Amino acid sequence: MEGINMEYVHQSVLAHEVLAQLVPQGSHPIMIDCTLGEGGHSYSFLSTYPDLRVIGLDRDPNILEKAKFRLRSFGDRFIPVNTWFDEFLADYEGEAPAIVLFDLGISVYHYEESHRGFSFNRDEALDMRLDPSAEISALEIVNSYTEKEIADIIYQYGEERYSRRIASVICRERNDRGITQSNELAELIRRAVPPSYRYGRIHPATRTFQALRIAVNHELERIVPAVERAIEILRPQGRVGVISFHSLEDRPVKYLFRRKADGCVCPPEALRCTCDGKPEIKIITKKPIIPSEEECMSNPPSRSAKLRVAEKLGDAHE
Ligand SMILES: C[S@@+](CC[C@H](N)C(=O)[O-])C[C@H]1O[C@@H](n2cnc3c(N)ncnc32)[C@H](O)[C@@H]1O
Repeated sequence: MEGINMEYVHQSVLAHEVLAQLVPQGSHPIMIDCTLGEGGHSYSFLSTYPDLRVIGLDRDPNILEKAKFRLRSFGDRFIPVNTWFDEFLADYEGEAPAIVLFDLGISVYHYEESHRGFSFNRDEALDMRLDPSAEISALEIVNSYTEKEIADIIYQYGEERYSRRIASVICRERNDRGITQSNELAELIRRAVPPSYRYGRIHPATRTFQALRIAVNHELERIVPAVERAIEILRPQGRVGVISFHSLEDRPVKYLFRRKADGCVCPPEALRCTCDGKPEIKIITKKPIIPSEEECMSNPPSRSAKLRVAEKLGDAHE
């Protein structure tokens, strides 16, 4: 595969825990790996369960090529699809899957190899698109959005308390040439924030970069519709697992699971239930599963991971 490095740089997060929680039931089960990445999780599942078939989704065509190469020995047990997971699931009419897995966000590959400006430590063109045909990249946001729009993005998607200062410096410094490089933006941010924050636990540009990435790829809007649809299409006793990396991803999944486990959709002020809603799932992880200390040490990007698992109710033999 010319131009693409076929070494794998991403270490799958919570790999043992995911395998232990998501055991495919039934004969010739199907798994949908909604965030295939370099294919680490899918590789473990395909190697562990010889009659499992995996549909692997990723919107990034380059990382999909890496996964296809890695999983080539599984032949037609592995079906790659270059798509957004919410769009794929919305139209899915195939066999009911036994497992649907989401490992949200981006991969180490994106920071280290994609050359799309995800990393504030590199001199790369600001882009951050997973879908190369998407109209809006980080470059457009930084150079053409209003100061208020930029501040709102940084605040909402990065939970960055200095969002207004950062947006103001971006808008002051972008001139005819614009801000084009990731390290150039990182340096502006570093200068925009107070010294105490500049030398804090995380790089001062971390939250702004996260926010831009989320905005460019509409990451948050995709999660709830996709997980909800995953629950709908699962076979009875099938399981959905969601690994998230920050509260903006985790919180909506937690509330969705609660709502689906409760069944009632009456407004909170209703005195009694009139909706006749039935529970659709059982929550398996009352508290999310987090990585062991060893995993956090050996794979620092796993530090903030949380795995939530739910099982679809119903009789598998119906
Ligand atoms: C954390 S990585 C997955 C790593 C993978 N589980 C492994 O073990 O190698 C997330 C992947 O999902 C992709 N992705 C993120 N959001 C997506 C979406 N809404 N639709 C499709 N792919 C998405 C990213 O391009 C990235 O490759």
